[in-house]
Amino acid sequence: MGTANRVAVVTGGGSGIGRAVAEHLARHGRRVAVLDNNGDAANEVAGQLQADGAEAIGVAVDVSDPQAVTAAFETVRNSLGAIEILVTSAAIAGFTRFDKITFDEWNRYLAVNLTGTFLCVQEALSDMAAAKWGRIVTISSAAGQKGAVGQGHYSATKGGVIALTKAVAQEYASRGIAINTVPPFVIDSPMLREQQLTKKLPPTEVLAKAIPAGRLGTGEDVAALVAFLCSDESCYVTGQVIGVNGGAVL
Ligand SMILES: NC(=O)c1ccc[n+]([C@@H]2O[C@H](COP(=O)([O-])OP(=O)(O)OC[C@H]3O[C@@H](n4cnc5c(N)ncnc54)[C@H](O)[C@@H]3O)[C@@H](O)[C@H]2O)c1
Repeated sequence: MGTANRVAVVTGGGSGIGRAVAEHLARHGRRVAVLDNNGDAANEVAGQLQADGAEAIGVAVDVSDPQAVTAAFETVRNSLGAIEILVTSAAIAGFTRFDKITFDEWNRYLAVNLTGTFLCVQEALSDMAAAKWGRIVTISSAAGQKGAVGQGHYSATKGGVIALTKAVAQEYASRGIAINTVPPFVIDSPMLREQQLTKKLPPTEVLAKAIPAGRLGTGEDVAALVAFLCSDESCYVTGQVIGVNGGAVL
């Protein structure tokens, strides 16, 4: 088996991009823990991965809760082993005019998107530092690169994720650990469709016109890149912001 069956944690693995990443990693032999605050979704995805022949577990966790994150990672260690790969896809997204963002809304975005990423990265790094091997991919956003109207809170958290990724990369590069961030632009997912349903985002054919590739991205488009960044071959790639956006953000 070699190193193919490394243990991977995917946060937000119950839906969209995280789900596609969990499926891709499992197909390639990884033992996969699907973490999501929607516990039913996490278990459903893990059950599907098992049915397809993979070793997988689902764990319900709110990534913004420090104690819950520690407990979830302990569950993964006990069930699958030390964490070798981490992909952080869990996040909330929405649109609020800047002058209407409440203190509570601001704090919730920070707690889930930025603090949630911090907590999971810190947990995973303790195993990776001991093993002197690790791969982390944070899912940020084009909004964190260039901002987005109505997403002052969301953009700030994603810019924070990009900076956190770069800082950790430099601190851990000499210890066999690589961490990179993938900032999607427009990927067809339940999160995106929800925004379209509530008319916060235009329909698919309008969105596609703003993308040189002429179509929305898929979870699999993101998963293929993430899988490379989690492989043995990617050891010299670290601290990078690597877009998968059909040429929309350059
Ligand atoms: N879809 C896009 O176009 C797009 C664009 C830019 C960035 N992104 C980013 O990609 C990632 C995945 O987005 P998606 O489109 O797959 O969204 P999604 O809503 O389909 O999936 C996100 C998952 O995260 C989970 N989650 C939310 N809050 C959580 C919490 N507190 N604890 C644990 N899990 C939690 C949700 O239950 C859900 O299963 C997010 O980080 C998002 O910001 C997506």
